[in-house]
Amino acid sequence: MDCTTLPSRRRPRGLTFVALGVALIVAGAGLALAQDAAPVQGGAPAADVAAPALPPADPLVVKGEYLARAGNCISCHTRPGGEPFTGGFAFTTPYGFLGKIHSTNITPDPETGIGTWTEEQFVRAMHTGVAATGSRLFPAFPYTAFTLVTTDDLKAIYAYLKSLPPVRYTPPANGILFSQRWPMIFWNALFFKEGRYQPDSAQSAEWNRGAYLVEGLGHCSACHTPRNIFLAERPSLKLSGGTQPDIVEEGKIRTWSAVNLTSASTGLGPWPVEQIARYLKTGHNTKAGIFGPMNDVIINSLQYLSVEDTKAMAVYLKSLPPIGESPTQTLTDDERAAGEALHKKHCEDCHLTSGRGAFLKAPPIAGSPIVQAAHPASLINSILYGAKVGKGSPLPFGAWEDMKSFADKMTDQEIATLANYLRTSWDNKGGRVSPSDVAKQR
Ligand code: HEC
Ligand code: HEC
Ligand code: HEC
Repeated sequence: MDCTTLPSRRRPRGLTFVALGVALIVAGAGLALAQDAAPVQGGAPAADVAAPALPPADPLVVKGEYLARAGNCISCHTRPGGEPFTGGFAFTTPYGFLGKIHSTNITPDPETGIGTWTEEQFVRAMHTGVAATGSRLFPAFPYTAFTLVTTDDLKAIYAYLKSLPPVRYTPPANGILFSQRWPMIFWNALFFKEGRYQPDSAQSAEWNRGAYLVEGLGHCSACHTPRNIFLAERPSLKLSGGTQPDIVEEGKIRTWSAVNLTSASTGLGPWPVEQIARYLKTGHNTKAGIFGPMNDVIINSLQYLSVEDTKAMAVYLKSLPPIGESPTQTLTDDERAAGEALHKKHCEDCHLTSGRGAFLKAPPIAGSPIVQAAHPASLINSILYGAKVGKGSPLPFGAWEDMKSFADKMTDQEIATLANYLRTSWDNKGGRVSPSDVAKQR
């Protein structure tokens, strides 16, 4: 396990969903042993010097590591400063009163991890959300997506997890409402469909591979699909944009909006397949750069996928019919003038008057899915907290100059005025942002 790939500063991430049926009823592996060749001694020809023998890597473990990357197990199962896969990462829901829920230790420690789990028990947990003990897991753990993954792929992930060093660690207890697991029986009956991915024979092998990764291990819909009041994903609006609450510190939650990934004009419609693939592999393209929760998704997961796999995911995303276009709004002349002045003063240096951004300087904000997202949280966050590529990013060249925080430079009213200007300029679309929307993100 190459720990350097874990961002050094990680926020506890909120979970987008989890739903307690409460409402319902009472509702190195790769160790990338960059082993240097043994020094040549005594003038012996280099070719004769045997490199120290490495234990042969078990191909099943190697395959499992790759798939565990695709599922980003490490981001959710590693708390800030904790050892990889030992759990204890805290999640919350939009219903803060439900309390927190923590990820579990999935190292092979027999007492605190999954050391005593059989392969069958592991596969059942991934496919159905039922733990080895028989108790039901909450969908903060995206078994709703992992149910699509083939049993063979899960067996490889199991072999990989079993190959990790066992670490003794018990995550903190969950909030009181998350100690009740039986309501999940009802939630699953209503909202969960168990079953493996069924290839679509009308589509290419590449498309099917992309669909399998996006919908299954990639669990993109966990953040990118809107949820109903029971926090279940809404199938009719799949991947058209969702929100996710992050725990910033004790008692402080910050909402993020995940953009529309369908071909809507306010989503990925204008992104060519090659640009989508490049963003997924590197976190950066001519249209955008990672700065929020996508930092974890790309840095801990997607950058490790093969070029073929990220391309396949892009091909699948590009085929999604446009849904969930953002609404339009009309500004008064005064509002427009005030917004334009704020843009000139604070943003134009890097994003230009045209909003098109500049090579090696800043991505475009004209046509940006972030600027046009139905929910403005991520746009507001970029202004309040700046935009920064995380440590360990695979950017092909030195990262551009970070966008700094404007939290102390603008009032809530000014940020709302600027946001509305951006959401109505250069053919951008997006509903009204109010000062109270901005205040909620502070
Ligand atoms: C979006 C966050 C998230 C991701 C991604 C994720 N998990 Fe989890 N996982 C959780 C949470 C939270 C729990 C605890 C659920 C509960 O207590 O009901 C959990 C529980 C589990 C459990 C049950 C363990 C137990 O002791 O009951 C297993 C097994 C598991 N995860 C394996 C994995 C594997 C393997 C991957 C990667 C393929 C993965 N998880 C990816 C959040 C995640
Ligand atoms: C110093 C140059 C600079 C200034 C000034 C600046 N930005 Fe940025 N902005 C950037 C960079 C660089 C990124 C990409 C960062 C990343 O990839 O993490 C970015 C990203 C963004 C994004 C996300 C775009 C996407 O889809 O990835 C938005 C929205 C944004 N900026 C809006 C603004 C607004 C509004 C202002 C004025 C209040 C502003 N920026 C001022 C450099 C700047
Ligand atoms: C943990 C939640 C989460 C998961 C999981 C997630 N995303 Fe995102 N995504 C976001 C958020 C929030 C943003 C907004 C910007 C950011 O974080 O950089 C975003 C932005 C994006 C963007 C547009 C970026 C822009 O600047 O315009 C693309 C493309 C994207 N995600 C693709 C994916 C794909 C494909 C997957 C599945 C492999 C995925 N995301 C999984 C939360 C998530």
